[in-house]
Amino acid sequence: MTKEYKEELIKEAIKARENAYAPYSHFMVGAVLVADDGTLYHGCNIENSAYSPSNCAERTAFFKAISEGKRSFLAIAIVGGEENSDPKEWNFCPPCGVCRQVMAEFCDKDTFEIVLCEKDNVIKSYVLKELLPFGFSL
Ligand code: THU
Repeated sequence: MTKEYKEELIKEAIKARENAYAPYSHFMVGAVLVADDGTLYHGCNIENSAYSPSNCAERTAFFKAISEGKRSFLAIAIVGGEENSDPKEWNFCPPCGVCRQVMAEFCDKDTFEIVLCEKDNVIKSYVLKELLPFGFSL
């Protein structure tokens, strides 16, 4: 995956973040998931006053895609930052453990790429096995 394509995915994740519903944490996350045919699925975090029904941006993107019949994925880009903040202020927003486990259900541990961004320009990417070593599977 080229640097230019990663930058494009980060821009899409920033767009996805605009729809985040985070009135409790005020931390807004956006994700864009790339299916094997190149289709993009956008997701944002969706919180709830009862807290535990909240959903992360990454899982929103995955569940949208899975529910549309997609089963094979190449990459996900994720951004996150405080409400009303500028992308230049954001730190890396690596996926939580639950989202990593969802990735492991559908993605190749050796090739699925997780693209992260900091301060609007430093892009790092990891393959799933780096972020979820020794993950559970049946
Ligand atoms: N959040 C995500 O959307 N993705 C992550 O990987 C970590 C955290 C959300 C959950 C909650 O709405 C807010 O960020 C603060 O934890």
